[in-house]
Amino acid sequence: MSQTDAPAGPWTLRGAHTEYTVAVPGHGRWLELTAWGPHGVSTGPSPVAYAGPTPYFTAGDAAPVEYATDGLRPFAGADLVLETAGGDRGVQWRFVEADGDDAALRVVFADEATGARATLHYRIPAGTDVVERWVELANTGDAALRVVRAGSAGFSVPTPHGARLSYLWGQWAQEFQLDHVELTRGRFSVGSAQGVPGHAFAPWLAVRDRAGADGPTWGTALTWTGSWEIAADVENGGLTRVRVGRLLADGPLELPAGETLVLPVAAGAYSDDGLDGLARVWHRYQRQLAGDRLERVRPVLYNSWEATYFDVRADSQLELARVAAELGVETFVVDDGWFVGRDDDRGGLGDWTPDPAKFPDGFGAFVDEVRALGLNFGLWVEPECVSPRSRLYAEHPDWVYSVHGRPLTPIRNQYLLDLGRPEVAEFVHGTLDGLLSTYDIGYLKWDFNRPRTEPGRPGSGPVDLDGGHVANLYRILAALRRDHPGVLIEACAGGGARADLAMAARTDVIWPSDNTGPLDRLAIQYGFLHANAPHLMSSWVTDAPGIFDPRPRSLAFRFVLAMAGVLGIGADLRHWGPAQRAEAAEWIARYKRIRHVVTRGEVHLVGGPDQDRCAVQYTGVDGREIVVLAWHPGRLDGAGLLPSRPVRLPLRGLAPEGTYRHGEQVYSGAHLTSVGLPVRWSAEHDAELIVLTRD
Ligand code: DGJ
Repeated sequence: MSQTDAPAGPWTLRGAHTEYTVAVPGHGRWLELTAWGPHGVSTGPSPVAYAGPTPYFTAGDAAPVEYATDGLRPFAGADLVLETAGGDRGVQWRFVEADGDDAALRVVFADEATGARATLHYRIPAGTDVVERWVELANTGDAALRVVRAGSAGFSVPTPHGARLSYLWGQWAQEFQLDHVELTRGRFSVGSAQGVPGHAFAPWLAVRDRAGADGPTWGTALTWTGSWEIAADVENGGLTRVRVGRLLADGPLELPAGETLVLPVAAGAYSDDGLDGLARVWHRYQRQLAGDRLERVRPVLYNSWEATYFDVRADSQLELARVAAELGVETFVVDDGWFVGRDDDRGGLGDWTPDPAKFPDGFGAFVDEVRALGLNFGLWVEPECVSPRSRLYAEHPDWVYSVHGRPLTPIRNQYLLDLGRPEVAEFVHGTLDGLLSTYDIGYLKWDFNRPRTEPGRPGSGPVDLDGGHVANLYRILAALRRDHPGVLIEACAGGGARADLAMAARTDVIWPSDNTGPLDRLAIQYGFLHANAPHLMSSWVTDAPGIFDPRPRSLAFRFVLAMAGVLGIGADLRHWGPAQRAEAAEWIARYKRIRHVVTRGEVHLVGGPDQDRCAVQYTGVDGREIVVLAWHPGRLDGAGLLPSRPVRLPLRGLAPEGTYRHGEQVYSGAHLTSVGLPVRWSAEHDAELIVLTRD
């Protein structure tokens, strides 16, 4: 192995519209970002350059270091901290080697004192402006090391006037709230220590210069379904350093001699078109992550949760299924409550056998009856959890996370299985594989209704609980997708607590929130679409007034809202009269005509829930079809409404000289962009679906 102090690189990775260039400077101890932005423009290092070394600057402060160890003593803190058995820290890299091309790069560093070796990986998937970064950390020494901090990447972004940071916060039933913070100096961080991405923050952050409103915008997101952290430090020299990675909430990890730890992919994205442009960069990337499965039509589904809750019975489910089929629904999903011991949320989890009292003719016969209506069949499961009042828990009390001598913490009356244990993973996989093999199931809703609380596996030494859980989750998802390729999988975690890039790659749809109340949902979906593509956004039309947000909105409003992604219905259809059913059938038919544009088109977030111009524009891949979904988010009593004066929606990305037709109306692209598409609201008319076609 040849180690050198000579400079190495630069290496440039090329995206669709961007370049990412890194180099090892003369001292050979770290990798430095030299450009990240549009082709040919060096936007990496701060324009406010450090004025040469001062006694207080370390090398880690004077350059945009890509992966900083504590040995560099960086101002913003280290990405990686390792410790020897004797407590020594301070890894200092030496460059070893690099290879790659303009799509992928691998740079290797080694630390003689500890035997640690880091391989930094870079990849820009074709056609995207997203750089994927991850690290393989090997212990080549002969003694175990402790990993104290395990960041995946650091990104340095030029913010000479301070940073404007955008993030998604929330809580149960109020996920994906978009908010911003202006930070001139110091640190802002978001994360989760719950063993799951969580409701409080999405693993996503966007950074802009404070003076650059809608201009160059950088973003990061993490491909990890466990605990995580994203921190942004606005340094005095004009850079914002963003650290992204796992949060080792349970304490340091052991890295035995000879072993390798692979840290999750941190993705960095760039757009020169503000947050809206950044959303499109993420959407394109997630479409790549979906691979062939993007081609699958996400079905219009009916989910019985809000109609029947735990009172699942074959006759009432079939009644719902018959109406759903008449309306044009394609998949019927039976939610929580179908298995033995599950009459409320206090029992049953773990005993995944259909309840014979609820399905007297057998579950298979019930599924066949649903399918005979022309519907695909979907089933809800929460396989990582167990009810204290279940046979599984009675037989395997040792399968849950627990700390010896301490009481367990029930949340929603349930415990969490330690999925990192091979026998638990085998049980979970076997259960799901068994259900999918026994019954004619085409859709699986995989729920997860509690965070991890107990940081322990009795009888084991130090163990990476989070890493083990997440790895087996991914293994099981991969096996199910391989063995049951026809089954679509929906990710859900008490609403939207499990929405990250890894789940975007491994599932087909994500449930953003339990809150389907129209105005609340508008804000939730607006935030969700900033980080996630519409093919992932599952949404239901539910009954009004809703349980969360009782503010009245028309059926049209609720349909147009749920059509912004993957349309579903969660209302109790048994109580819908002929007029409502007819209107619903019409909306569903319209959705089927436009869903290829909605789920695959270029999204422009025209206006948010607190703006008059609240709308989303979807431009079909060939630019010929434009779907605009618009909502009136204000008061419906007429206050503030001027029906004579339409709201104008400024559309984007159109050909200025192009001609766009909506019925009899013909507009030029320039008009739609600068004057806007008119919509008129009234107390009765609070939502619009407009399809424009280019001549
Ligand atoms: C939480 C989910 O988000 C809901 O949609 C529903 O599936 C319930 N769990 C069932 O317990």
